[in-house]
Amino acid sequence: MPRIDQARAWYPANDPVHGFDHVLRVLRMAEALGEELGADLTVLRAAALLHDAAGAVPGLDSDRQTHEQASAAFAAQVLIGEGWLDERVEAVAHCVRTHRYRGAEAPRTLEAKILYDADKLDVLGAFGVARTIGYAIQAGQPIFAEPSTQFRGSGEGIPGEPHSAYHEYLFKLRKLKDRLYTPAAQAIAVERHRVMEEFFEQLKYEMNI
Ligand SMILES: [Fe+2]
Ligand SMILES: [Fe+2]
Repeated sequence: MPRIDQARAWYPANDPVHGFDHVLRVLRMAEALGEELGADLTVLRAAALLHDAAGAVPGLDSDRQTHEQASAAFAAQVLIGEGWLDERVEAVAHCVRTHRYRGAEAPRTLEAKILYDADKLDVLGAFGVARTIGYAIQAGQPIFAEPSTQFRGSGEGIPGEPHSAYHEYLFKLRKLKDRLYTPAAQAIAVERHRVMEEFFEQLKYEMNI
């Protein structure tokens, strides 16, 4: 089982979006959900500590699009090094591979569903708003830009349209509460969704005064 101080070294020291404070919040949330739902906590803790360990920071490396694959391969390497059985290594790797909203593979196990939900809860609520704005800044995108009619319809911007934090709210964040797997996470998401929605609607309101 990777230790917390060991895991800290896998993440950038000062990154408000995918840094270690995000990982610790996901770990705590995953533990709480896992205890409530009777999950394998050893698999879940290892998966939470490793889930963004490779390639999650834009600009630092080019494989942001596949950070779930890179992190799953890194997780397998770490756990094989610790002498974990193949089956349990794969249980962790499955959680890591399937934690991404835009990912190709859906979570199948209870532990993978819990990690997915815990990770998504950290992009809702007050930290969700803070991290979404932090990500826009890291990616060189504005906090607010008026979405085109095409973007509002299809999620695809017109040529040259920025993908602002507000775009991310429209495209992904406001749908998340209905795309969680566990009822326990869905219950927590209600209040976090409300806080986030209020913030982004206020942002739009102030922009258009
Ligand atoms: Fe991630
Ligand atoms: Fe994450």
